[in-house]
Amino acid sequence: MRIRVHHDAAAMAEAAADDIAGWLAVDADQTIGLAGGTTPRLTYELLARRPIQWERVQAWMTDERHVSDDHPDSNAGMARRALFDWVPATLHGVPFEDDPAQSASAYEATLRRVLGRGPVARPGLIVLGVGVDGHTASLFPGSEALTEASRDFVANWVKASAVWRLTATLPLLARARRTLFLVTGEAKAPVVAEILEGGGRNYPAAVVSHLARDPVWLLDRAAASSLTHTNSF
Ligand code: 6PG
Repeated sequence: MRIRVHHDAAAMAEAAADDIAGWLAVDADQTIGLAGGTTPRLTYELLARRPIQWERVQAWMTDERHVSDDHPDSNAGMARRALFDWVPATLHGVPFEDDPAQSASAYEATLRRVLGRGPVARPGLIVLGVGVDGHTASLFPGSEALTEASRDFVANWVKASAVWRLTATLPLLARARRTLFLVTGEAKAPVVAEILEGGGRNYPAAVVSHLARDPVWLLDRAAASSLTHTNSF
């Protein structure tokens, strides 16, 4: 696992854009799985100005809210406004169905086609955020999707907010060749310290990081402020 601490959120976003651009420069046919929320938005905006062979890039969402992609809460909508409306890459959004399980099944078939080499979807680089409760993608603490051992993408009822979410599962996330966690802000400092130094193995983000082949944590100093030993960049 690599941990890199940057001066502020803008510097972290630049470093994340460099890492993703570097990944795509090696092989633009490599897929990228993207997080939603607010943290990655600046990184996606910066990527729009990077010289990448975008026409070869296939992107997907590691999770989505149960809304259509023109809804203001849509993660794919955020990614399109920040990046995919500006470059000739393909972003596979999660199809909206009234029944969230149908949306998840349809997307699972898409992922097998887009990420597959044979019957198994194999993600390239994935970008993930972390919530203050330690969730990542839409794998929330105590939620049923955390126990999914065979499916790649499922609907997940989030009790705390009484909403359906659609999310990649641990088996799919664990197959990624590189896993990039982007975390900024003081509010995340406690959970970052518990995950990276405090043995907080039960947080979903900790489980994903532990299973990951090549986990890289990109933090700003605020999110790293409760860590006892890091070197800032
Ligand atoms: C979502 C995200 C979610 C996000 C974390 C962090 O659907 O909101 O995929 O997992 O990455 O909640 O969100 P922020 O970046 O907004 O802090």
